[in-house]
Amino acid sequence: MALYFNNIFFFLLLLLITPNLDLSLAKGCFLSPIYQVHIINKLPSNTPQLQVHCASKDDEIANDYLDIDEDLHWSFCESFFENTLYFCHFWWGSMNKSITVFDDAGSCVHHGLYANYLNYCKWEVRQDGFYLEMYNTTDIKNTSYFMYHNNYWS
Ligand SMILES: *[C@@H]1O[C@H](CO)[C@@H](O)[C@H](O)[C@H]1NC(C)=O
Ligand SMILES: *[C@@H]1O[C@H](CO)[C@@H](O)[C@H](O)[C@H]1NC(C)=O
Ligand SMILES: *[C@@H]1O[C@H](CO)[C@@H](O)[C@H](O)[C@H]1NC(C)=O
Repeated sequence: MALYFNNIFFFLLLLLITPNLDLSLAKGCFLSPIYQVHIINKLPSNTPQLQVHCASKDDEIANDYLDIDEDLHWSFCESFFENTLYFCHFWWGSMNKSITVFDDAGSCVHHGLYANYLNYCKWEVRQDGFYLEMYNTTDIKNTSYFMYHNNYWS
């Protein structure tokens, strides 16, 4: 009997920890595209470690330290009718900053300047702030992606 309860306990424990294990696995989406957010640590080495906490209203992603070049990423379903918002809080040395990393299926975040037609949002955390990959449509003969300086540490 004790063994039986042990197994049940273990099974419940597994259920509790499993959502945190499938960060990189794409979830199946019904009638809506899968989006991904990538947060890449591009800070200089030999500086304090970057700590990151990312979440949405109902999805806890991570509360962790990132190594240089490490890519924290996750997937979710999003249609134009949904309004998912993911934010991340960053700590680096004496600085900390909270930014929205996704709230728009057409441009990753609302700001109006550039679009993003990819199904992922790529962020880089650098010494001078937060960069988001965006599509430059200024020159229709030579459109290209570039890292847009979206936000600052302070
Ligand atoms: C973030 O930094 C500010 C000062 O810049 C400080 O007042 C605040 O407590 C810090 N917040 C967190 C959550 O670390
Ligand atoms: C966008 O493209 C135009 C034309 O090629 C260029 O002048 C401009 O600097 C680009 N903007 C960015 C932010 O790369
Ligand atoms: C297109 O834009 C990119 C980035 O702005 C630039 O490096 C490249 O030289 C441009 N190519 C042409 C053909 O203008």
